[in-house]
Amino acid sequence: MVDTSDEWIRTRTGILERRICAPDEAASDLAAESARKALEHAKVDPQEIELLIVATVTQDTLCPATACYVQEQLGIKACAAFDLNAACTGFIYGITISKAYIQAGMCDKALVIGVDLLSRVTDYEDRATCILFGDGAGAAVVGPTDDDRGILAEYLSADGKLASLIHIPAGGSRLPASVETVQNHQHYLKMSGNEVFKVAVRILGESVNQALQKCGLKVEDLSLVIPHQANIRIIEASARRLNISLDKFYINIDKYGNTSAASVPLALDEAVRKGRVKSGDLLALVAFGGGFTWGANIIRW
Ligand code: ACO
Repeated sequence: MVDTSDEWIRTRTGILERRICAPDEAASDLAAESARKALEHAKVDPQEIELLIVATVTQDTLCPATACYVQEQLGIKACAAFDLNAACTGFIYGITISKAYIQAGMCDKALVIGVDLLSRVTDYEDRATCILFGDGAGAAVVGPTDDDRGILAEYLSADGKLASLIHIPAGGSRLPASVETVQNHQHYLKMSGNEVFKVAVRILGESVNQALQKCGLKVEDLSLVIPHQANIRIIEASARRLNISLDKFYINIDKYGNTSAASVPLALDEAVRKGRVKSGDLLALVAFGGGFTWGANIIRW
């Protein structure tokens, strides 16, 4: 399709495989499937969910929200449901909002889903992006805790000055769909990879440090870091900056590529199911993405 090689992709990104959805699958289908698994794992009945957040940039339709399709697929009779667009940081933003809802007594159980089908907005003639992205979904059930476990701290930030580094130019109110926008490939994700790389390395470390500071803990206290899986070299450089051994980073980019909002929950779920996360462990979830957005959650499991 493009002038590239397996060797270039492996060494420059760490990606060996990617998952791509079937043509008849949409974001809500993957989201609902991941939600069912999360609810089963948490032993929570879907009817207990009072808040449903879907973090995505590849919603089923521009209107209504994908969260409403997911609500319908899960058979939840009534709950607050909305989409959240913070690109690859979406899951961290969603977890943080659900925590605030629960702490404020506005709900008891929330479902936070990160899902993206970036294959739907990838230009397979653009070698700078098409080698990176895969489709996926991951979900978490969030509820109150009665001891010192749970989401201890968070740090969220954004910088709209960097919006043009990762964007999909057409299809919104700025540049509605037209024959020209399709012909000009303007419905595909555009990225200045090299610039993104430099910003990412700086802000991943900063996010973890800021969130740790808020709960009075140190990098040495962390059992595992679950980073956004964008590029193995970004993860390695962040580990060096934070002075944390790479063994303490959960890495599965080789199997899935960059799955955007799904990346952190996919890695978290895999780490938990493989026994890498034990009760009492201190985790840092950290991500960056289009916006630019970035942030971290510190969680006592
Ligand atoms: N195959 C072969 N060569 C390539 C490819 C490819 N697939 N892609 C780029 N190149 C070439 C370039 O043309 C360039 O060639 P030149 O030196 O002759 O001009 C050379 O490789 C180096 O290009 P760079 O862009 O400097 O390569 P870099 O080492 O930065 O790697 C990459 C590119 C993998 C995209 C990297 O910059 C990266 O991972 N960036 C971060 C992307 C990211 O994290 N995105 C996350 C956000 S996505 C979201 O929010 C939805």
